[in-house]
Amino acid sequence: MVALALKDLGANYGRARVLSDVSIDDLKSGSVTAIIGPNAAGKSTLFKRIASLIKGPGLVELSGTQAGPRTICYMPQDTAANAVLTVYESVLLSAKQGSSWRVADEELIEIDRVLKALRIDDLAFRGLGELSGGQRQLVSLAQALIRNPEVLLMDEPTSALDLHRQVEVLSFISETAKRDGLIVLIALHDLNHALRYCENTIVISNGKMVASGETNAVITRTMLREIYKIDARIEQCSQGTPLVIVDGAI
Ligand SMILES: Nc1ncnc2c1ncn2[C@@H]1O[C@H](COP(=O)(O)OP(=O)(O)OP(=O)(O)O)[C@@H](O)[C@H]1O
Ligand SMILES: [Mg+2]
Repeated sequence: MVALALKDLGANYGRARVLSDVSIDDLKSGSVTAIIGPNAAGKSTLFKRIASLIKGPGLVELSGTQAGPRTICYMPQDTAANAVLTVYESVLLSAKQGSSWRVADEELIEIDRVLKALRIDDLAFRGLGELSGGQRQLVSLAQALIRNPEVLLMDEPTSALDLHRQVEVLSFISETAKRDGLIVLIALHDLNHALRYCENTIVISNGKMVASGETNAVITRTMLREIYKIDARIEQCSQGTPLVIVDGAI
């Protein structure tokens, strides 16, 4: 069992401090945690800092020791397309990052499995530049999953997907986390997805962590009013799942 701890994490862009004092302990393997908060709150910055893509104060620890870069994989919010590569090549390249260039049969089988699970196996030999926005996002997801990291940071992984794909992808991420013992953090704007798929939630606002804990306890009417500036109700649906119903902006 691996556990992720963040200790007083912060980040600057130039001289501007955009994130400070984010601390959390014990995000356990197999768990899925939502990172929520308004635009420009610092969610992507937090991910980049955890993945060591930007520098700043604080420590990222995995089971008490400083996490190495290969154990943490960051799926960015914007999916850039390298038009020269095919889907298959781009996923293979991602699988080989930081390891030997020899390709084992098991790796090819695993690529097939991930492409099939995300239902993009029919795109395997298409160029990345020829894909729709949602298809590109699914390829980006495949590139992240194939690396089989201990910590997977997914920055709005469903923002370009249709409803069917959103549900399919979030279920797949949640099953993969449990099956492979990953620690998954997902930045989300859809709070109903957080309520349904994420056991824990961290709220970022103005570069600070303002709440964290079990999702049901964190997403409250008061939090939505204070942080999101909306009037909203949390109601149980007929099947017992809590839902956010928005009445309007304050
Ligand atoms: N490369 C950069 N240089 C300077 N400032 C930046 C840079 N990237 C982000 N910022 C600023 O840092 C702050 C936090 O941005 P960040 O991208 O982390 O927000 P976010 O919570 O991910 O927002 P969104 O929901 O819109 O994706 C914002 O004020 C943003 O303008
Ligand atoms: Mg962002």
